[in-house]
Amino acid sequence: MSAAHSDFSIRPASASDLDALLALERAAFTTDHLSRRQYRRHLHSATATVLAAVDAGGLLGKAVVFHRAGSDIARLYSIAVEARARGRGVAKALVAAVEAAARAHARTRLRLEVRKDNAAAIALYERLGFHRFGEKPGFYEDGADAWRYEKPLP
Ligand SMILES: CC(C)(COP(=O)(O)OP(=O)(O)OC[C@H]1O[C@@H](n2cnc3c(N)ncnc32)[C@H](O)[C@@H]1OP(=O)(O)O)[C@@H](O)C(=O)NCCC(=O)NCCS
Repeated sequence: MSAAHSDFSIRPASASDLDALLALERAAFTTDHLSRRQYRRHLHSATATVLAAVDAGGLLGKAVVFHRAGSDIARLYSIAVEARARGRGVAKALVAAVEAAARAHARTRLRLEVRKDNAAAIALYERLGFHRFGEKPGFYEDGADAWRYEKPLP
């Protein structure tokens, strides 16, 4: 799986991306960080897909999606774009690649949680066709609440 865009591409992440993935994780999120051990596990898991958006300068963004066995729902667990690369459509392209991966796993719906105070991410998901269907109070490590969003994958 690989998708080309004007100035970046999206491909499955590999062990050689680990340092950059962790640096992005620390820079993009204040809580609920994925650890190196968790990334290692997800990179080799049949029920997880880790995608990397890259250009000649290295990692621009990443997305982690889970495909739980026995479910028709994929879960977009994490997405982040380097501050220097935001506003260029990298997240939009990552979500499209996540949807393709979910379809390849025969999933018919894509779900995610987002902090209620994360206006940029909420705008991204609503723009890309996700609808709000619930909430999870105190979902994050710092006690912040989450909205739940879903997108059908026809
Ligand atoms: C949220 C985030 C992933 C967006 O990444 P991005 O690559 O800049 O987003 P894109 O350029 O693909 O934007 C796609 C659409 O999302 C919306 N959007 C993205 N950033 C936005 C912002 N800061 N304000 C309002 N809308 C925004 C817009 O509708 C945009 O479409 P448009 O440019 O055609 O109007 C990025 O800001 C980020 O990594 N934030 C920190 C980590 C994070 O919050 N992750 C989400 C956790 S749930």
